Amino acid sequence: MTDRREAVRSNAKYLRNVRPVDPEEVCEYVEGQPHPAVVRRILREEAFDLGLVEREDGTFVPVADGAVRPTFRGVEAFPESYAGALDDLLVERYGADWHAGERGDELRETIRRLKDAYYRQHPVEYDERAALGYAIYHLPDYYAAVQYVLAELGEADLLPRKLRVLDVGAGTGGPALGLHDFLPDDALVEYHAVEPSDAADVLERLLDGTGRNFHATVHRERAEAFDPDGEFDLVLFANVLSELDDPEAVARRYLDALADDGSLVGLAPADRNTSIGLREVERSLTDRATVFSPTVRLWPGAEPSDEGWSFRVEPDLATPPFQRRLDDAATDPEHDPGEFVNADVQFSYAVLRTDGERRYDFAPDPDRFAKMAEMERHVPNRIDLVAIKLSHDLSEGDANPLFRVGDGSESVDHYAVLTRETTLNADLATADYGDLVILEGVLALWNDDEGAYNLVVDEESTVDRVPP
Ligand SMILES: C[S@@+](CC[C@H](N)C(=O)[O-])C[C@H]1O[C@@H](n2cnc3c(N)ncnc32)[C@H](O)[C@@H]1O
Repeated sequence: MTDRREAVRSNAKYLRNVRPVDPEEVCEYVEGQPHPAVVRRILREEAFDLGLVEREDGTFVPVADGAVRPTFRGVEAFPESYAGALDDLLVERYGADWHAGERGDELRETIRRLKDAYYRQHPVEYDERAALGYAIYHLPDYYAAVQYVLAELGEADLLPRKLRVLDVGAGTGGPALGLHDFLPDDALVEYHAVEPSDAADVLERLLDGTGRNFHATVHRERAEAFDPDGEFDLVLFANVLSELDDPEAVARRYLDALADDGSLVGLAPADRNTSIGLREVERSLTDRATVFSPTVRLWPGAEPSDEGWSFRVEPDLATPPFQRRLDDAATDPEHDPGEFVNADVQFSYAVLRTDGERRYDFAPDPDRFAKMAEMERHVPNRIDLVAIKLSHDLSEGDANPLFRVGDGSESVDHYAVLTRETTLNADLATADYGDLVILEGVLALWNDDEGAYNLVVDEESTVDRVPP
């Protein structure tokens, strides 16, 4: 460390206990009296280590202790400022009419190829054009998705205001921007992205739009080769596990990079294969980690062995303008209107921790509640059970509302079927994905067609949502 840097640091360490650290003042105390802008740059570079947040007036103050608890009411739209930054990048690379003519066709073809490769589970290479295509199609939905997961951690006071984050396979930055916008301005973040492909160029551009207390570094390396230095409060694998040769081994290695009270968040597309793949990684790690959410193991020692396809659905976003432009400009006969619009927010996720914390610290009484692992012996009786709601309404047409549920012990699918809604059982339909519900007086039936248990909720049943 240079003498000047050390001098700025020691002055900041002293001053932070006395008054806001002002670069204009600090420069007076440093030998050679560097320009305040030089001091400001050094303070910014050292801010995380010194625990200092920069305020709007340009002074630095100690970050507040404790956890953040942002008010979160969902995500309605991808912010205009980021949409503008992406548009600028597209204009730079492809000209003002990037969405039209041959250039637009190239981008449309790129997105088609990406979608097809994901569908067929083929490997994807993110060269410059693929990265831009990916950004157009997937920045908004994963920007939103990550925030719903962070909200669960925030609600449980498990996101420290001074936060070290490692985003593995960060791509073009949807989750990074989502994290940034979810956190309050006075959170102090050291954000590290591991991203080996050309997507890192898009990521760096978009990170330029983040706030002064979001200190970002992009490591252009593969997750397998990267050496995570120090401990992270949040390790994020967003839509990347399915692209790794050995996702279980890589995720296991990154568990070692977690702070004792840190969270490893896995996110995956809602599609069957990627969703089940995420669940397999989750299950492979439970010898070392506890599932915080959503698939909480409610019964001590039990583990699920069902297929595990479960995903969360949140309200659609407003159509992002860049998707609309690309879609509207398509002229080829194969084009289905809406093909390049992706405003759905549907995703699978798993939050793992090594400190044993679970979103629901609930131990069912075995004398009172039926365990899904033993459902066979309860058919065709009325029973009480505890379960996590693991889907939106899966019924089609005018069939009875149907929700996937789990208690962490199941070896086959269980569905709660609402055949008669009353005020006493209405919580089944209104509970959110991942919520714990107590179901009383439900009829356990085997559904041979589906190879699943149906838990019939009718006028004799009650359902109560249990707060986390
Ligand atoms: C589907 S994208 C997801 C990007 C971003 N996390 C998101 O949710 O939007 C997958 C990303 O993982 C990156 N990736 C693939 N293999 C990787 C590896 N071995 N190590 C690190 N990143 C990898 C790709 O370059 C790509 O940017």
